[in-house]
Amino acid sequence: MAVGWHRPTRLLIDTQAIKANVENERQRMPQGSVLFAVVKANGYGHGAVETARAAKEGGASGFCVALLDEAIELRQAGITEPILILSVVDPAYIPSLLMYGISVTVATREWLVEAAEQLKEESYEQPLNVHIKVDTGMGRIGFTSPQATKEAALFIKNNPNFHLEGIFTHCSTADLKDSTYFDQQTARFKENLDQLSELPRYVHISNSATALWHPDNVGNMIRFGVAMYGLNPSGRSLPEPYPLQPALTLISSLIQVKELLPGEGIGYGKTYTTNQREWVGTIPIGYADGWLRHLQGFSVLVNGYPCEIIGRICMDQCMIRLPKQVPVGTKVTLIGEDQGQTITMQMVAEKLGTINYEVACTFSQRIPREYTNKIGNSKWSKEVTHMLETYPLLSVADKVRPVGKT
Ligand SMILES: Cc1ncc(COP(=O)(O)O)c(C=O)c1O
Repeated sequence: MAVGWHRPTRLLIDTQAIKANVENERQRMPQGSVLFAVVKANGYGHGAVETARAAKEGGASGFCVALLDEAIELRQAGITEPILILSVVDPAYIPSLLMYGISVTVATREWLVEAAEQLKEESYEQPLNVHIKVDTGMGRIGFTSPQATKEAALFIKNNPNFHLEGIFTHCSTADLKDSTYFDQQTARFKENLDQLSELPRYVHISNSATALWHPDNVGNMIRFGVAMYGLNPSGRSLPEPYPLQPALTLISSLIQVKELLPGEGIGYGKTYTTNQREWVGTIPIGYADGWLRHLQGFSVLVNGYPCEIIGRICMDQCMIRLPKQVPVGTKVTLIGEDQGQTITMQMVAEKLGTINYEVACTFSQRIPREYTNKIGNSKWSKEVTHMLETYPLLSVADKVRPVGKT
C-alpha cells in the first residue's frame, strides 16, 4: 500500500508514553511476575515493531501477537524475546514456528494430534513451545473442561517434541464493575490448574483490565495490551488506578480555506448548508484513512478551538467550520492536545458508538506513523529519510516539512 508521506496527515506515536505505561504497570506487579506486551494488529495501529522496542525499554519480557506473520515481523526486526501467538496456527506452519522460535497456543486435542504427526515427520532439534489455552467462559478458543486440559497436558508431557511453556485463559468481563462472572472464570481456571502435576513457566490470566482492576490475581505473567497504549480498557466505566499516558496523536493541516456565502452546500449529498457567511477549511483525511463517515458532526482542534466537521466525510478529505480565517497549512489536531484542549481516542470511539480499541486499529496504513519521544517534537522517521535519499530530485521533497512545524 502506498503511504501518504507527501500529505500532512500523520499519526505521532509517543514511544516514551508506551515505555512509561509498561514501567508503571511493572511497578505494581507482584514480585516474580513478567509482562508480555501485546503488539498484535500492528501494535493496535501504533506500529508493532516500534511499540515492541518501547515496551522492551520499559521492561517487557516478551510479546504476544495474533498471527504467525506478526511474530515473524518482530523476529525480522531483531526482537529476540519470547513471542506467543494467542490464536490458532495451522500445524502445517510448525517449521516456521520452530525456525523463528515462536510459541503457540494449543486450543484443542485435534490440533495436538495433528501437530504431533507433523513434528514426527521431520526431526527438529528443538521442541515446539506451547501454551495450553483454557476456555473458562469467553467461548472463543480453548479446552472447555478440567479433564480436557489434563489430557492435553499429559499428551504434551508424553511427547518430547512439545514443551509445555505456559497455560492461560482470557477473561471477558474484567472491565466491568460487577466481578461475579470474572470470579467464576478465575475459579474455573484454578480448577484447570489443579489438574496439572506441575505448573509450566508461564501461568497467565491477565489482560490489561485484569491487570489494572484485579492486580492480585492468579498467574505470573500479564498480557498487557490496550493500557500500554495509554487507553482505558473500560472506556470510562472504571477509573484508571494510575494515569495511563495516551501514545497516539493524529494531526493534519488545512489544505484549503475559503469563505462561503449563506446557502452553500458542503460535501456529498449536501447534508450541510451554510447558515451565514462561514469560513470552511478542508483537511486531507477521510474514511479511507479510518476517519470514518460517522464522525460527521464531531469536532477537531484548530489553534485549540473545536471546529465541527461539516458535511459528509469523503474518502480522502473532510471539511470543518472555522471560527475565522486561518492560513492554509495551519495544524489540525484530530486526536490529541492542542493549546490546552484535548480530543481523546475515547471521545472518537463514543461518537462512533464503539470502543477505543477499534478506533486505534482502524487507522489505515496510508497514514504515516512517526515516532516521537515527546509529543510535538516530531522527527523524520526512517522511511521518510530513506525516501528523500532515494529520490533526491523529487521536487515535492523540497516542500515536505516535518509536521508540527507548520
Ligand atoms: C488472549 C488475549 N490476551 C490479551 C489481550 C490483550 O487485551 P487488552 O488489550 O485488553 O490488554 C487480548 C486482546 O484482545 C487477547 O485476545
